[in-house]
Amino acid sequence: MISLPLKKMPMAVKCISMFEGALLDKLKSHARYFPRKEQAVLLCLHEIQDHYGYIPQESLKPLADLLDMPLNHVEQVVAFYDMFDRETPAKYRIRVCVSVVCHFLGKKRLIDALEKALKIRPGEVTPDGKFKIVPVQCLGACSCAPVFMVNEDTYVFESEEKLNEILSRYT
Ligand code: FES
Repeated sequence: MISLPLKKMPMAVKCISMFEGALLDKLKSHARYFPRKEQAVLLCLHEIQDHYGYIPQESLKPLADLLDMPLNHVEQVVAFYDMFDRETPAKYRIRVCVSVVCHFLGKKRLIDALEKALKIRPGEVTPDGKFKIVPVQCLGACSCAPVFMVNEDTYVFESEEKLNEILSRYT
């Protein structure tokens, strides 16, 4: 990742150059796809998160420039959606639903089992950088609650044994 001295840059200077190669091509392609560039902001943030494993602070200004939108609008979008991770990345993000249905149908058992299996607490990353537990709002699978996701794969929490078997698939 290229880190830019943002604080030393004059406000008018655009810093799209943080993005290079395939990532830059994808972001430009998303920006072209929509009638208004800023409509591509969610898609672009997903690309950035896929590329870096999280949303680096230094990527927000270049993205705002690329989409011709104010930096604070990009920051608000990132802050609003808990699917975007702005802190320590991990190879596998385990998103645990903490919304009301999952809360009443076993969220605590799920988090306890994850803490026991990974020896970390929500928000933390395992020492090998492999897993991170990320509490999030409704994952849209309420009828199967309690649910969690490992990156893009969705699972129903059934038991500690089943959870351990699922985690062992991610190497
Ligand atoms: S409340 Fe957990 S998936 Fe909807």
